[in-house]
Amino acid sequence: MTYALRNASPAKTRAEAVVVGVVQGAKNPELAPGAEDVTAAFGRRLRPLLATLGVTGKPGEVTRVPVGDELSTSLLVLVGLGKETTPAAVRRAAGAAARAVPNATSVALALPADSADTVAAVVEGHVLGGYSFTAYKKSSDDASAPATVTVLSPIARRAETQEAFERAQVVAAAVATVRDWVNTPPADLTPPVFAETVVAAVRAAKKSAQGLKVTVHDEASLAELGCGGILGVGSGSAAPPRLVELVYSPPEPVAHVALVGKGITFDSGGYTIKPGNGMQTMKSDMAGAATVIQATLVIARLCLPVKVSAFAPMAENMVSGSAVRPGDVLRIYGGTTVEITNTDAEGRLVLADALVRAAEVAPDAIVDVATLTGAMVLALGDKITGVLGTEATVGEILDAAASAGEEMWPMPIPEPIVERVRSSKVADLAQHDWIRWGSGLFAAAFLQEFTAGLPWAHLDIAGPSWHGGGASGHLTPGGTGAGLPTLVEYARVLGAKM
Ligand code: BES
Ligand code: MN
Ligand code: ZN
Repeated sequence: MTYALRNASPAKTRAEAVVVGVVQGAKNPELAPGAEDVTAAFGRRLRPLLATLGVTGKPGEVTRVPVGDELSTSLLVLVGLGKETTPAAVRRAAGAAARAVPNATSVALALPADSADTVAAVVEGHVLGGYSFTAYKKSSDDASAPATVTVLSPIARRAETQEAFERAQVVAAAVATVRDWVNTPPADLTPPVFAETVVAAVRAAKKSAQGLKVTVHDEASLAELGCGGILGVGSGSAAPPRLVELVYSPPEPVAHVALVGKGITFDSGGYTIKPGNGMQTMKSDMAGAATVIQATLVIARLCLPVKVSAFAPMAENMVSGSAVRPGDVLRIYGGTTVEITNTDAEGRLVLADALVRAAEVAPDAIVDVATLTGAMVLALGDKITGVLGTEATVGEILDAAASAGEEMWPMPIPEPIVERVRSSKVADLAQHDWIRWGSGLFAAAFLQEFTAGLPWAHLDIAGPSWHGGGASGHLTPGGTGAGLPTLVEYARVLGAKM
């Protein structure tokens, strides 16, 4: 599939299908900005036609209209935008459009695209709404995907628009790769395979990006370093753990960010085992690691002047005679000891090693991304990421999320919970204390112990990393790639600061 950006009339384009938006007007549905020529071509016949078809313009609504002489195309696709033409509404509509014409070889998208942000939203929505995970299917629909997609925009000639158009393609492709990795069955993405997959992705990225370097610590190297969290969590699995460290060094960095991502390739809960349905989606427990690795590769491909040190601890949380038990004490990289009381709170243990490694490179800020707690899903629902940490960094992440069109919300780390983390009777820290309330905050308070007081934000993506329903807008079933657009936007803003 190739994307082109053009300033052209949707009424005159020869694409096999032309997609336009419909907004819910005050009284009647109306074609959205970008479709003016289509509205003019139909003239007074448009309103009764929309009424007959039952078009309302509500979000996600798709109506296909075969057309005669009115337009140069023979198929007009109407997608609902709702009441507004925000980038989020446009992204959603573009996603629905991607699934509406699976067999067209050329499609023109005439959705609202009069700003760089909406052009990016059209591209992201279309790429991601058309995503499907077919690696394990006998047949795939990929062959029938449209070959060329033309994004129509009145500001197609502007450098800023073209830059947003190119960037959106790079970001969306990376999000799709995160989805692939998350959707891969856990037996086929064990920590060693995941690490190898990352190394291969870095090798491929080096063809179009410079300054990348990747290191994989295997179990022997982890033992030498003293990464007791990663080794402890991984000890129950037949597949040994890994720690992948990826660095992007631009020639003249204006900032240095450390990214840390949870990479549990499967979370059974360990001896504190999960109930069956709680385990169902736990192949997705490595989404944080996938996100920080792919975000780093995007930042490198965009040549942003921000140094990135990414840390992806990978382990499989399983049950066996060699697995850790409640009551065991682990020694985190750097020496802090942790008493395990719940083997299902494994994410914070692998992140602890990685956070100490991250703090050692003395970054300006640390951002970690993790499918950390069910409590955060309970608090914010499955579509909103909880953001905790130091005030300024949390604020910067929330701003970046708003620009990138991702929903995030701040959560506190209350002092009494910090004290509970420090209240183990046998070790330096308690991993968990069986007080159910606010366990997403406890997890963040635990992580903070390993951040060396540096500016830091923790993104709990337990909900948004996985889409449980059918395809909707730019979301498709399974992995979502949530968080990646925000990390890239965060680095872009940092890079533009000086
Ligand atoms: N990977 C889970 C968190 C999770 C839950 C992610 C649901 C996605 C959807 C994590 O390792 C976990 O098990 N957390 C426990 C923590 C508890 C034991 C303090 C949880 O949330 O129940
Ligand atoms: Mn767990
Ligand atoms: Zn987990």
